[in-house]
Amino acid sequence: MPVCRARSLALVGIDALPVEVEVDVSPGLPGFSIVGLPDAAVQEARERVRVAISNSGYKFPTRKVIVNLAPANLRKEGPAFDLPIALAVLAASGVLPAGSLADAGVVGELSLDGDLRGVRGALSMAEGARSNGLSRLILPEVNAQEAASIGDIAVYGVRSLKETVDFLAGKISLSQSRLSENESSDGVADAPDFSDVAGQGYAKRALEVAAAGGHNVIMSGPPGSGKTMLARRLPGILPPLNPEESIEVTKVFSAAGENGGSLIKVRPFRAPHHTISTSGLAGGGSNPRPGEVSLAHHGVLFLDEFPEFSRQTLEVLRQPLEDGYVTIARVAGTLSYPARVTLVCSMNPCPCGYAGDKRRACRCSAGQIERYQSRISGPLLDRIDIFVDVPRLTRQELRGDDVAESSGQIRKRVVAAREMQTERQGVPNSALSGRALREICALRGDAESLFSQAIDRMGLSGRAHDRVLRVARTIADLANEEEIAIEHLAEALNYRRSRFVDR
Ligand SMILES: Nc1ncnc2c1ncn2[C@@H]1O[C@H](COP(=O)(O)OP(=O)(O)OP(=O)(O)O)[C@@H](O)[C@H]1O
Ligand SMILES: [Mg+2]
Repeated sequence: MPVCRARSLALVGIDALPVEVEVDVSPGLPGFSIVGLPDAAVQEARERVRVAISNSGYKFPTRKVIVNLAPANLRKEGPAFDLPIALAVLAASGVLPAGSLADAGVVGELSLDGDLRGVRGALSMAEGARSNGLSRLILPEVNAQEAASIGDIAVYGVRSLKETVDFLAGKISLSQSRLSENESSDGVADAPDFSDVAGQGYAKRALEVAAAGGHNVIMSGPPGSGKTMLARRLPGILPPLNPEESIEVTKVFSAAGENGGSLIKVRPFRAPHHTISTSGLAGGGSNPRPGEVSLAHHGVLFLDEFPEFSRQTLEVLRQPLEDGYVTIARVAGTLSYPARVTLVCSMNPCPCGYAGDKRRACRCSAGQIERYQSRISGPLLDRIDIFVDVPRLTRQELRGDDVAESSGQIRKRVVAAREMQTERQGVPNSALSGRALREICALRGDAESLFSQAIDRMGLSGRAHDRVLRVARTIADLANEEEIAIEHLAEALNYRRSRFVDR
């Protein structure tokens, strides 16, 4: 009996790499061994496959069955190899015609009765299968819609081992899964509206700039001034995801097992609680998944009550905020997940919350304030572009009947500004660096001399210098101007000043 093969895929980060499942059935003492999987997983897969095969009405060969998952040096995790192992065993024992598995990628977890459970990373697997020259992908029905959104590969959703065998043997036909275009989704999140927020025009403007260019923001102010309220309204003004971003975001959600089954069109907004663990934020675990910082990829990571987060937890944000991805160290090498986020934080200026308030006295000692503010690491603050004070509302603002601008109106400007960026450089202004940054954010005339003065006066770091330029570029884009004028730069510089946060 020749060796039978099935092709499968293993998820590494958000990429799927090809795995070959080889099965040899030979005369000898009956047995079933799998090589190429970590110890614990082998045991489980062996039992599931054996029981699922007999419960689907087939006979498990009473001979010596050896399964090899190649390449051996790739660490294969998760139960997605159950289905390809079962199919290759059935091919080796003559149930399936040889050759029926030739051009198909197969993934799926088996339950004991032979039904299929969904897998993580379906979209990545479809992409991996396509780029490795496979013409078909067979996977659990719940994942089929998501996998079909990649296109250029025939995707078949199956419900059980029996159905898969019948399909491969040509006894039944299945229709290809197709992407059902959800036309109603125009990339707008279902979020509360900015018109609910009274006053706070300065903070709203700052959030508009942040949304337009993807800049990091920190809001500081007394309790009840509206910081949490403002941040929660941010999703409603974010620009839609472009098609490539949409695929990347879906891949991350799918790898985390959090995707509903179709393509994600709305920018993510993640607001983890301050008790979150380091691995919850960065990602990882024994069967690794992306963390919150990756689930916020191309969207917003909102850290409410910023000083309450553990310093050590926040340190993992330093790399993603700079590079746009997070690296996770593992026993078997390192793994990385994309994590290009807009960071939005909120904090009180001191433990009682009233430092700097004009009317209400602050009860904290200078030492207390210092200790409170020192909980936030300097290197993280250096990665913030926009510092906003959110003061207590005045009586007029609280009781007045001014109607504030709606999220829809603000979003129009944000979308137009983001389109300019995409057309000019392909990425948002916050991702500009090096030579592109110098060229696209060139200053002329009095803007240049204002900046030179500000660098000396404010003692800007190299990183802060770049950040001011990017923000100024976004402000100019919002004004639909080709060149950064002195007023755009002045506004950007203003966002680096704060009464509360000492930089
Ligand atoms: N600018 C505002 N306009 C309208 N309502 C507001 C405003 N600010 C606060 N409120 C009301 O007060 C509530 C509390 O506001 P919010 O939670 O945003 O305060 P906060 O600044 O986050 O306070 P804390 O520092 O304690 O977290 C809101 O749910 C809202 O009902
Ligand atoms: Mg709050």
